[in-house]
Amino acid sequence: MVKMSKMCVLGANGCLGSEFRAQLGEGHYFCDLPECDVTDINSLRNYLADKKDIKFIVNCAAGRDAELLEDNYDMAYEIAVKAIKNIALCANEINAAVIHFSSDYVFDGQKSTPYTEEDEPDGLSVYGKTKILGEKMLLATAQKAVVFRIAWLLSRKGKKSFINTMINLMTQGKDVSVVFDQVGSPTVAKDAVRYILNDVAPKLAELAEFRKLYHLTNEGVCSWYDLAHFIKKTLNLAGNVRPIFSYEYPTKAMRPSFSVLSKRKISDEFGLKIRHFSEGLEEILRE
Ligand SMILES: NC(=O)c1ccc[n+]([C@@H]2O[C@H](COP(=O)([O-])OP(=O)(O)OC[C@H]3O[C@@H](n4cnc5c(N)ncnc54)[C@H](OP(=O)(O)O)[C@@H]3O)[C@@H](O)[C@H]2O)c1
Repeated sequence: MVKMSKMCVLGANGCLGSEFRAQLGEGHYFCDLPECDVTDINSLRNYLADKKDIKFIVNCAAGRDAELLEDNYDMAYEIAVKAIKNIALCANEINAAVIHFSSDYVFDGQKSTPYTEEDEPDGLSVYGKTKILGEKMLLATAQKAVVFRIAWLLSRKGKKSFINTMINLMTQGKDVSVVFDQVGSPTVAKDAVRYILNDVAPKLAELAEFRKLYHLTNEGVCSWYDLAHFIKKTLNLAGNVRPIFSYEYPTKAMRPSFSVLSKRKISDEFGLKIRHFSEGLEEILRE
C-alpha cells in the first residue's frame, strides 16, 4: 500500500468502516457511537480537538435501515444531512478533506443503461432523497470533499450483511426467497476501500481544494436473487434460493428496479482496473 495520509474513520464499526479499519491498520483514528455522535457538532468537535494531523475524515456513519427511515424523515435527515454539515464544518476547521458515501438509491431506476454522474438523481425513498441532500450539503460546505456513490455493499463485516444472512439461513437448510427484478452492480467493500486508499486518496491529497463525485461499484450486473444463488452454489449450501417479484416482498421504502452505476469516470481519472464483483465475492466467501 502507498504511504497513507492520516485518516479518521467515523462510523468505524459498520460494514464499510470495518473494512477501512482492517486495511488502514494502526496509526489512524477510528470511532463510532457512543464515543462520537456525528449528528452532534459538539461531540464531533470534541473528538477531533486533539487530532489536528488528520488529512481525511472518512464518513462511514449512517442510518441504513430504509424501512425504519421511511416513517422517520427527521431521523433520516439528522444522519444523512445535518451530520454531513457538521462533518464538513469540522473538516474545514482542521483543513481536512471529507470522504463520504452515497448510494445507488439516489436514482429512481427508470433508466435501462448505467447511471452516470451527469444523471439527475431522484430518490424513491426517504433514504434515497436524504442521501441526495447529504451529497449536496457536503459539496456546498466542505472545501475538500469527495462523494462515492456505492451500491449493494458486499462484505461479511458489520452487523447487517446480506451475505451473512443468506449463509446463516441456507446453512440451516432453510430456503430463501429473493427478488430478481431489482438489478444493480454490487460494490465489494474491500475492493472499494482498496481503490480509494491506494489510487484515489493519494492523488486528491495533492490538491488544495476539490469537490468531486464518483460512482464506485464493481463491474458486473446482477439481481439480489443472482447474488443469493452465487452464494449457495459457491458454498454448496443446503437451502434453496427461490426467485420472487418485488411485489411478493412488499417494503415501505421503494427500491429502484435498475440502479447499475457507470464506473467510467472514476476508472478513467484514476486508472482503475475494477474487477468483476463475482471475483471479490468468491474471495470473501472462501476466506
Ligand atoms: N451497505 C450498503 O449496501 C450500502 C449501499 C450503498 C451506500 N451505502 C452507504 O455506505 C455508507 C456506509 O454504510 P454501511 O453499510 O457501512 O453502514 P452500517 O453498517 O449501518 O454502519 C454505519 C455505522 O455508523 C454508526 N452510526 C449510526 N449513527 C451514528 C451517529 N449518529 N454517529 C456516529 N456513528 C453513527 C452505526 O452505529 P450503530 O450500528 O450503532 O447505529 C454503524 O456502526 C453509508 O453512507 C451508506 O449510506 C451502503
